[in-house]
Amino acid sequence: MANRMTVHMNERPVYDILLEQDFSALPKELESFHLEHRKICIVTDSNVAPLYLEEVKNLLALCCSQVISFVFPAGEEHKNLDTVRELYETLILAKFDRNDMLAALGGGVVGDLCGFAAATYLRGVSFIQLPTTLLSQVDSSIGGKTGVDFDAYKNMVGAFHMPKLVYENIGTLKTLPPEQFSAGMGEVIKHGLIQSRDYYEWILAHKEAIRSMDMDTLEKLVVESNHIKRRVVEKDPDEKGDRMLLNFGHTLGHAIEKLKHFELLHGECVALGSIAGMHISAKRGLISMEETKRFASALSWFGIKTSVSGLDIHSVIEATANDKKMDSGVIRFILLNEIGQAFVDRTVTQEEMEDALQYIFD
Ligand SMILES: NC(=O)c1ccc[n+]([C@@H]2O[C@H](COP(=O)([O-])OP(=O)(O)OC[C@H]3O[C@@H](n4cnc5c(N)ncnc54)[C@H](O)[C@@H]3O)[C@@H](O)[C@H]2O)c1
Ligand SMILES: [Zn+2]
Repeated sequence: MANRMTVHMNERPVYDILLEQDFSALPKELESFHLEHRKICIVTDSNVAPLYLEEVKNLLALCCSQVISFVFPAGEEHKNLDTVRELYETLILAKFDRNDMLAALGGGVVGDLCGFAAATYLRGVSFIQLPTTLLSQVDSSIGGKTGVDFDAYKNMVGAFHMPKLVYENIGTLKTLPPEQFSAGMGEVIKHGLIQSRDYYEWILAHKEAIRSMDMDTLEKLVVESNHIKRRVVEKDPDEKGDRMLLNFGHTLGHAIEKLKHFELLHGECVALGSIAGMHISAKRGLISMEETKRFASALSWFGIKTSVSGLDIHSVIEATANDKKMDSGVIRFILLNEIGQAFVDRTVTQEEMEDALQYIFD
């Protein structure tokens, strides 16, 4: 059974998130966009293309006048302006105009890059998201944040640009490498921690079914996470308030990610940062240390490392200070009042961070 929810901005419906177990409903979903005389360009990467491009191309051909594709090499290192430039070239050569559309078929790298090209090509064309990783289904495809990296700076150039549709085929998760699934679980559990104790407990109670990729359980998992992300972005579309809560685990997580030269996956770093965030919350007496341990063992169950080695505490703290500079000198840390309730705190001290890092260091 299909699951559908609508994302609103300023009380107005903007786009639907649809959850399916295959791609077959795609032509019907696109009917309302009247693409009979429109072109569509499927943007995807070199890992996803051999798996799903042909199938999606054939389905889109049923409702669009012309379907072309743009495939770039997989990996964060290609989420940059050079790739965007090649995509612009492809669109110009195929004479894409303002009425034509892009479709992001892949993980967050594809979604962010395709969305950015859609936001900027001819001052903005429509695009749809067809996310194929757990992370992109629960997180990056929703909310309209698009962008690319610039030199060593992650997501340095970007734009807010809402998709017309997010079509999540959770069947694609079956081909996802296990470490990518685990990294996505890091963000999923985070959704529970920051917004819903019930969901958090549900995840822990269904961990076996999740790990064995039971499709009905995964469907419930993705839907619940989508509800949480949707609620947060609806309340705060431009990331001025509540949306910051999604950054739980990200202050130290990003610093670790950077110092590890992106050898660890983003979700793994966020998981480490989340343990540190729980540790600080526990030390302040907001939650118990037992909860922190329980969270860490849940992460381990899903194959996520709960400690990191080869890093120096002071370098990590220094790296968070770089984020701080961009934020008028105040470090904004997300902590937990209780499981299911996060808040923004501006008073986390260096000692608290050191202590928390000590806890996650091997
Ligand atoms: N826009 C946002 O709000 C937002 C939020 C979080 C993260 N992000 C961005 O998302 C990116 C990370 O996304 P990601 O984790 O999806 O990484 P990714 O797009 O690099 O995908 C991970 C890997 O899995 C492969 N892959 C994708 N789908 C597959 C499938 N179904 N079967 C087999 N292989 C598949 C990809 O080719 C890639 O090698 C980062 O660039 C991050 O900055 C954006
Ligand atoms: Zn993240």
